[in-house]
Amino acid sequence: MKRKKLWGGRFDSSNAEITERISASIDFDARLYRQDISGSIAHASMLEKIGVLTHEEHRKIVQGLNEILSEIEEGNFEFVRSLEDVHMNIEYALTQKIGDVGKKLHTARSRNDQVTLDLRLYIRDECTEIRMLLETLIAELVKKAETHLEVIMPAYTHMQVAQPVRFSHHMLAHAWALVRDMKRLDDANSSSMVLPLGVGACTGVNYPNDREFLKEKLGFLSISPNSMDTVSDRDYVLDFLYFAAVLGMHLSRMAEELVLWSTSEFAFVRLSDAVTTGSSIMPQKRNPDVAELIRGKSGRLYGNLISLMVTLKGLPLTYNRDMQEDKEPLFDSVDTIKLCIEGMMEMIVSMEVKEEAMRVAVFSNYSTATDLADYLAQKGVPFREAHEIVGSIVKYCENNKIDFFSLTPSDLKSFSDVFGDDAVSVLNPAFSTERKLSRGGTSLREVKYQIDLIKKIILRRE
Ligand code: ARG
Repeated sequence: MKRKKLWGGRFDSSNAEITERISASIDFDARLYRQDISGSIAHASMLEKIGVLTHEEHRKIVQGLNEILSEIEEGNFEFVRSLEDVHMNIEYALTQKIGDVGKKLHTARSRNDQVTLDLRLYIRDECTEIRMLLETLIAELVKKAETHLEVIMPAYTHMQVAQPVRFSHHMLAHAWALVRDMKRLDDANSSSMVLPLGVGACTGVNYPNDREFLKEKLGFLSISPNSMDTVSDRDYVLDFLYFAAVLGMHLSRMAEELVLWSTSEFAFVRLSDAVTTGSSIMPQKRNPDVAELIRGKSGRLYGNLISLMVTLKGLPLTYNRDMQEDKEPLFDSVDTIKLCIEGMMEMIVSMEVKEEAMRVAVFSNYSTATDLADYLAQKGVPFREAHEIVGSIVKYCENNKIDFFSLTPSDLKSFSDVFGDDAVSVLNPAFSTERKLSRGGTSLREVKYQIDLIKKIILRRE
């Protein structure tokens, strides 16, 4: 349905259909209705405070806005494209509902400060939800670590077996990356916590707008200091998109490991039926689609960040309509990152850890070669020399197709007389992990220390 434009006064004829189609954002920005209404309510209260609205006018406006809010939430509100965006749809509906007094709401305000207010409030709301999801995911990783403290697997470098490590240490490695994401999320949240409302279109307004009042009413931490910068700035959106891109990258790396670990070749974990899908042709298949999609979706999270960076790069101050292109990447990143966190959570909670396969891998690939070299080094052999000696032991084993556990004390002694009878014990992966007592190492003591630390960090906010 066509509506007269709220800005139509100086126009003789109406817009072309394509102009409406290209400029309308209502199809995606309708999701800002809650923030738009609370922003308008705060603005109306401020207008009353500075004497622009009477008490009665303010009351009518607030009541009208609240009614619109309920109508939208109950699905009884029609957003129309000819009114362009969420701001004008709500303002138009308000005037329809309460008459001419509704037309006073937009005094001392521009859509330029209104839209950036809505976005900042939206990011704040989403940050709260995403933080809870992220905390839960970290808690699940910690739980997996705690319930599998004794499971030992190979750690890899270059995707080659490197050294024995606790499975719990590996889980915690991912958890720590997510703890950093939580910090980035908090930073993105605080960069959105600057009040933009009250600066008007770009230079300030001809009214004594009480921005301190608005700040308090809307729960912001500070007030933007420059009107031109205020309506031009989308850094806080970029901060959120960057947070989402990095978290997406971390989840993608975890997903990649789950894809690998759930292959029949690795078989370190079994992903549950809840997160795997079958093939339409190959009956035996259990495909790790959730993991693959999380890995895949990291691409669009990067894309959203880059897309807005590119949109902004050539824009002169202040507001330009190009900036309407900030919303779809933001909304997409919000939706995508939530999907990815929830998908990862489901996989972690329901995955079965195949202890035996990990054991076989860590026992059969010379994973304790470094420990053997350290044994010699601790008895005074220079490490480089010790490295050389153990290298020749590995070569000997490979040539004879045996693993470390077939070596007897006298086999070892034939490579170096520094080896004592106790040397074979360092070949045991469990012994190896227990010796990693340096801070951040994989010994039981250090892993437990990490668990305590991470729990304190997650619980701190409660
Ligand atoms: N829908 C617009 C946006 O998202 C609102 C701001 C419009 N401002 C303007 N001066 N046309 O950016």
